[in-house]
Order: sequence, then C-alpha cells, then structure tokens
Amino acid sequence: MTTFGDKRSRGYDKRAAVLLGGLYRLIATDIDALAKTDSQVLDAGTGPGKLLAELRSQRPDLRLHGVDLSPQMIDLAERKRTGGHVDFSVGDVGALPYPDDSFDVVVSSLSMHEWPAVNRAISELARVLRPGGVVRIYDFRFVRPAAALTALRHYFVAGTVRREIVRPRRHPIGLFARFTAHTA
Ligand SMILES: C[S@@+](CC[C@H](N)C(=O)[O-])C[C@H]1O[C@@H](n2cnc3c(N)ncnc32)[C@H](O)[C@@H]1O
Repeated sequence: MTTFGDKRSRGYDKRAAVLLGGLYRLIATDIDALAKTDSQVLDAGTGPGKLLAELRSQRPDLRLHGVDLSPQMIDLAERKRTGGHVDFSVGDVGALPYPDDSFDVVVSSLSMHEWPAVNRAISELARVLRPGGVVRIYDFRFVRPAAALTALRHYFVAGTVRREIVRPRRHPIGLFARFTAHTA
C-alpha cells in the first residue's frame, strides 16, 4: 500500500520543486549521455514526474514512461504533463505493468528506499529492460547499498555493476549514490 496519499504527495511535489532541481538536472544529463535517439525510458517510482519533465526538456525525442504505486502522485504527474511522448501508469515496481524487453533505459530517483523487497524490484527492472539496456538507480547514499549491489550483480551483467557517489551542483556534500548496471 502506498504511503503517498493526497496531502503527502502535494507536499512532496512542492518541496521537490525547491530542493531537488539540481538532482533532476544531474540525472537528466546522465540519461541524455547514454540514451540513443528515440529510446524508450522508464522512470520507476516517478512521483510527481519532475525528473521526466526535466528529461523531456533536454531530450524531446525520448519515449518517456513513469510508473508509481501512488495514484495521487500519478494524478499530479498527469496534470502537469504538457505534451511530448510521455505516459504515466499506477503500478508497483515489484510487479511492473509492462511486458518483458520494453525499455532501453530504466531510471529511478529517491524511490528505492521505499521498496519493500529490493531484490524483487531489481529483478523486475531487469525483466522490462531490453538486451543491451541500462539501469540507473539514484538514492540517498546510505540506502541499502549491499542489498542493491547483490541484486544488481544477480540480475544484470555482474562486471557492469557500479556504485558512485554523486553531488549535484551547489550541494555541499555528496548525499546521493548512483547505481549503474547493464543487461546482456
Ligand atoms: C520520495 S518519492 C520520489 C519521487 C520521484 N522519483 C522524485 O525523485 O521526485 C518516492 C516515490 O516512490 C514511490 N514508490 C514507493 N514504493 C513504490 C513501489 N513499490 N512501486 C512504485 N513506486 C513506489 C512513492 O509512491 C513515491 O512517489
């Protein structure tokens, strides 16, 4: 069950606009560097869709999809949608509502710390990625690094799995970590 109801989703949407713009720009720049023209990109735990809005402004060619457990978050994301190739769905990262091999890139920001079963969720991210696909998960740096790395090495090509600390511009300390892994 989602913990992001109506009031909490609206509060998050307002705070994220003030506090997280630098992180969304950093992630969108990362995805821009690795996504080929017209790639299918999924944002898992998209919340109010702010990362996809940033990505759409940097890369209007991408086919963007956002999924979130909270219908209220998806409602906020849909209300702000201003054209482009973007769609949103309510769904659980542990049972994604997409067929196998649907996406070239899967990204997730500040959501993994809420996933009840990281292993199950990461197996789903691998399932919906096409061969040669890439996953990028961003979260607070102290969130479940061992569990995430173990699952990524199990479901992705082990030698491609990396964890790095990232620091958006003007953030005084490295609060966030980025996990990367590739499918075969
Ligand atoms: C802190 S918000 C981050 C939202 C957005 N990614 C961002 O960076 O602004 C965490 C989001 O993860 C979503 N979430 C938590 N557990 C989830 C799950 N099992 N499946 C899909 N979304 C989930 C929540 O509903 C919430 O919208």
